[in-house]
Amino acid sequence: KRIAFLVSGRGSNFQAVIDAIAAGDIPAICAGLVTDNPGAYAIERAKNAGIPVTVVDYARFPTRAAYEEALLSAMRGCRADLFVLAGYMRILGAGIVREFSGRMMNIHPALLPAFSGLHAQRQAIEYGVKVAGCTVHLVDEGMDTGPIVVQRCVPVLPDDDETTLADRILAEEHEALPLAVKLFCEGRLEVDGRRVRVC
Ligand code: GRF
Repeated sequence: KRIAFLVSGRGSNFQAVIDAIAAGDIPAICAGLVTDNPGAYAIERAKNAGIPVTVVDYARFPTRAAYEEALLSAMRGCRADLFVLAGYMRILGAGIVREFSGRMMNIHPALLPAFSGLHAQRQAIEYGVKVAGCTVHLVDEGMDTGPIVVQRCVPVLPDDDETTLADRILAEEHEALPLAVKLFCEGRLEVDGRRVRVC
């Protein structure tokens, strides 16, 4: 399978997946990285791994519609079987979501449906939950609402702050995302409405 990535920043989840592909754990090739942020550290990671990069700089477009059109054409150019959103910090337009329906995944640093949206780890600390975690889900037109593929949980410890909790969750993200991508590439995901079965 051809896997492409949409990333806005650091790209540690992107790195975890490309490392798993390079190690032969995932039967896939990296078709490209698309980013909305010319300063994203993920660009360095892609270059180091010889993965083609397309920058669609959000700031350079006069309207959101013009940005989305350029983004869609960059995404099409990857000819990917699966698009992985690994820290893409914007909402995708309905047209893009529809076009990639069933073959786009997102990683979110909370146990959905709790704490969707921004600053999920801070939301978890402030709410006072004792268990937190991460979710890999298929992308639908809502925000962090699509069918769940993989979840991993971690404890919230009494002295945690947003940073220590985020670090603990991130370690799980780096396992959950490659696993979800692997299951997709092996054709082992069966989607039945909201429920995703692993076969
Ligand atoms: C991760 O916490 C991910 O769950 C969220 O954004 C963060 C991206 O981190 N969507 P990185 O860029 O993969 O290091």
